[in-house]
Amino acid sequence: MLKPIAELLRQSQAELQDITDSEGAERFRIKWLGKKGLVRLHFKSIVEAPENERKALGARLNELYSLLESALEKYSSRTVAAKKNEPGIDCTLPGFPFPRGSLHPLMTVRNRIRDIFTGMGFTVAYGPDIESDYYNFEALNFQPDHPARDMQDTFHIAEKILLRTHTSPVQIRVMKSQKPPIRAIMPGRVYRNEEISARSYCMFHQVEGLFIDENVSFADLKGTLFAFARTFFDDKTRLKIRPSFFPFTEPSVEIDVECFLCKGAGCSICKQGGWLEILGAGMIHPNVLRSGGIDSEKYTGFAFGIGIERIALLKYGIDDIRLFFENDVRFLRQFS
Ligand code: PHE
Repeated sequence: MLKPIAELLRQSQAELQDITDSEGAERFRIKWLGKKGLVRLHFKSIVEAPENERKALGARLNELYSLLESALEKYSSRTVAAKKNEPGIDCTLPGFPFPRGSLHPLMTVRNRIRDIFTGMGFTVAYGPDIESDYYNFEALNFQPDHPARDMQDTFHIAEKILLRTHTSPVQIRVMKSQKPPIRAIMPGRVYRNEEISARSYCMFHQVEGLFIDENVSFADLKGTLFAFARTFFDDKTRLKIRPSFFPFTEPSVEIDVECFLCKGAGCSICKQGGWLEILGAGMIHPNVLRSGGIDSEKYTGFAFGIGIERIALLKYGIDDIRLFFENDVRFLRQFS
């Protein structure tokens, strides 16, 4: 039995919607408009209809035929147009620019420090950011009433548990786990409860260093650290060593470099002194060697602590430590 024209119309419209490619369009054309297609089939069966309806039926079938024909035409002209606009693939065009990331300047400086010391035979060790009072202070020969234990400087987490205020506690951990000769550096984050300003921050980075063997002398300390500073800055850098105090070293020193800005004349960066401190160091106190389980009669050693931010500021001529922690891409991009 033949379908009413309204039904043919509905079905053909639905099938038109489903056409997705030129093969689908061709299948549609054959099924509906071909010589043996559905519309022709209906034309042939007009004779079966009552005489008075044949003319109207024929007209409506004609209408359906041209409707489908123009729909198909529109479809193929649309796809041809789309194809024309398609750019195709030009393999010679440059790619999309993906912005390149870069290492944070503090990581670049840390890696440089690490490479210089590993080049001198040092190994790398790490310790926890959350420390006990024992490792951070007691084992390092801090007297119970030393001002650095004050709540002003230290972030306490619980009774005798704190955020390490320096990387020196890792010295004790290394001494306890290795036997001399020991040559190790220990990079890491440290925390101090300080007012945030252009010069100080509540969190910063240090690289601790440890050298323990028989007959290690102050000359070894000076030679090693001057070699480091001259490699890191440049070999003409003027350096100064001056006495200082740390409970865990005796004698203790600080090493300064000539101010990069005024070359020693005195300016606002170096507070008119002409020199800038880059690290603290000293010969390891016998009490500290003993805390680390090392025979202080047989072995001597030196230790040092380098402030990563401090020398990054110097190396790049940056005047505000907060820039390192704000992660402003306009700042960071300059180091890519
Ligand atoms: N821990 C000291 C500081 O934070 C630096 C230092 C390390 C000094 C090792 C001497 C020896 O200032």
